[in-house]
Amino acid sequence: MKYSIIASLLLVGSAIAAPHTAVRQERARKRAQGRKGNPNHVIEGPGGVETNNTNVSYSTNWSGAVLVGTGYTSVTGSFVAPTPTTTGSGSAWVGIDGDTCGTAILQTGIDWTYSGGKVTYDAWYEWYPDYAYDFTGITISAGDTIKTTVTATSKTAGTAVILNSTTGKSVSHTFSNEASLGSLCEYNAEWIVEDYESGSSQVAFADFGTVTFTGASAVKSGTTVGVTGATLIDMETSSGSVIVQASLSGTSGVVLKYV
Ligand SMILES: *[C@@H]1O[C@H](CO)[C@@H](O)[C@H](O)[C@H]1NC(C)=O
Ligand SMILES: *[C@@H]1O[C@H](CO)[C@@H](O)[C@H](O)[C@H]1NC(C)=O
Ligand SMILES: *[C@@H]1O[C@H](CO)[C@@H](O)[C@H](O)[C@H]1NC(C)=O
Ligand SMILES: *[C@@H]1O[C@H](CO)[C@@H](O)[C@H](O)[C@H]1NC(C)=O
Repeated sequence: MKYSIIASLLLVGSAIAAPHTAVRQERARKRAQGRKGNPNHVIEGPGGVETNNTNVSYSTNWSGAVLVGTGYTSVTGSFVAPTPTTTGSGSAWVGIDGDTCGTAILQTGIDWTYSGGKVTYDAWYEWYPDYAYDFTGITISAGDTIKTTVTATSKTAGTAVILNSTTGKSVSHTFSNEASLGSLCEYNAEWIVEDYESGSSQVAFADFGTVTFTGASAVKSGTTVGVTGATLIDMETSSGSVIVQASLSGTSGVVLKYV
C-alpha cells in the first residue's frame, strides 16, 4: 500500500494526497453529476415545517442552512467534532456557493468515520470542482472545538482556515487564481452536514448525534450577517423519512440533529 500512496503523491504533484482523496474525488464527480439534473442538490418542500419564518427544503445528502443572495465573501462557524456511534461516515463544513451557483464551491470542514470500534477524522479544504485535500498539521479528536472559515478574496481566489479553538492555532490554505477550475458567484453562504458518496452510492451515514454550528456568520457585501432568513435543508431518505433535521438557534446558531 505504501507504493500506491507514494504513486498518488507523485501524481498530484505538490499537493498531499490524503487517504480519502479518492473518496472525495468521487464525491466531487458525483456532485457534478447531481448538479446537472438538480442544480441546488435540494428538493423544494413545503416551507416552514420547523419554524414559522424559515423555508425548509429536502436533500438526500445534505442538511444545513443556506443564505441565498449576492455578495457573500466569507462564511464562518464553530462546532464540536462529533462522536459517531454507528458504523459509517459523514462530514461537516462551511462553504460559499454550494447551492445556487453551480460553477465553484469554496469549502472547508471535517470528515468522520466510525469503523471497527474506532473513530477517525480528517480536516480538508476544497475548491470544487477540484477534489478536497487534507490539511496537514491538525489532528482532530472527538470533542475538539474547531472554527471553520472560508473567505473569497475574489471570485477566483480565497482562503480556507481551520482553527483549534482551545489553542488558537490554525491551519490554512490559500487558493489563488482558480479561474481554470471555476469561478465563485458569491450567491450562497452555507453550514452543512453531508452524507457524501463513495463509488456509486452514498457512504453509510453514521449516527453523529448533533452538530451545532455556533458563531455562524457570513460577510455579505462587506457587512457581517447572521443566519436569520437562511433556508433550512433537512436530509431525508428517498422515501421521505427525516435523517437529519436542521434548525436555527438564535441569529448565529445552526443545529443539525441526527434523527
Ligand atoms: C444529492 O441529492 C440530490 C437530491 O437531493 C441528488 O440529485 C444528487 O445527485 C445528490 N448528490 C450526491 C453527491 O449524492
Ligand atoms: C408557529 O406559529 C404558530 C401560530 O402562531 C405557533 O402556535 C407556533 O408555536 C409557531 N411555531 C414555531 C416553531 O415558532
Ligand atoms: C422563502 O422562499 C421564497 C422563494 O425563494 C422567498 O420568496 C421567500 O422570501 C422565502 N421566505 C423566507 C421567510 O425566507
Ligand atoms: C486543540 O488543542 C488541544 C490542546 O492542545 C488538543 O487537545 C486538541 O486535540 C487540539 N485539537 C485540534 C483539532 O487541533
